[in-house]
Amino acid sequence: MTKIVMATNNAGKLREAMEILAPLGIEVISQKAAGADCEPEENGSTFAENAMIKAKAVYDIVKIPVLADDSGLCVDALDGRPGVYSARYAPKGTECETLLNEMKDIPEDKRSASFQCVIAYIDNNRKFTVSGRCDGSIGYEKRGTNGFGYDPVFMYGSKSMAEMTADEKNEISHRGRAMKAFCEMLGKDFQEIL
Ligand code: IMP
Repeated sequence: MTKIVMATNNAGKLREAMEILAPLGIEVISQKAAGADCEPEENGSTFAENAMIKAKAVYDIVKIPVLADDSGLCVDALDGRPGVYSARYAPKGTECETLLNEMKDIPEDKRSASFQCVIAYIDNNRKFTVSGRCDGSIGYEKRGTNGFGYDPVFMYGSKSMAEMTADEKNEISHRGRAMKAFCEMLGKDFQEIL
């Protein structure tokens, strides 16, 4: 199996990358398991910059193929916030309540939002980013217990992302779509990294 290190300390992201890439014969291992105990400062102003910062920091330590995901929730009524600051918008575990409270007076037709994801990849001869997004809206209450982060308040059709199974979420999510684009990029000369 091909091994790729994922530059993250986020268990939810790691699990989703494993689920999506395992059927392709790619084993995703955490940066911690690969011995890269670092948490670089995400001081870029875009998802792409931050994804590359994380991938590079871990690649410099492990020197085997690395992927990093930088992602977040962009709410139109909040001018794209929390965006690249999604992980720091509110204390972990309170992000949904904080967002629902901030949006309590926003009417139904102005609650549109998107999840966005950029994946950065580095190996010994390539370096690229791919992206994916998922358009939906912010609900009025937390629904569902699957997933992580803002999933319980992100509505896609009639379900929140936390009401979806892992397969349903991966099919339509920003990360699932970015992962598909990532696989297409690898597919071009996939043999090279095996
Ligand atoms: P970062 O990419 O490590 O800066 O963190 C992104 C943050 O965006 C996460 O901590 C979550 O709060 C949020 N986020 C990213 N992807 C998802 C998702 O698939 N579901 C719910 N929240 C997400």
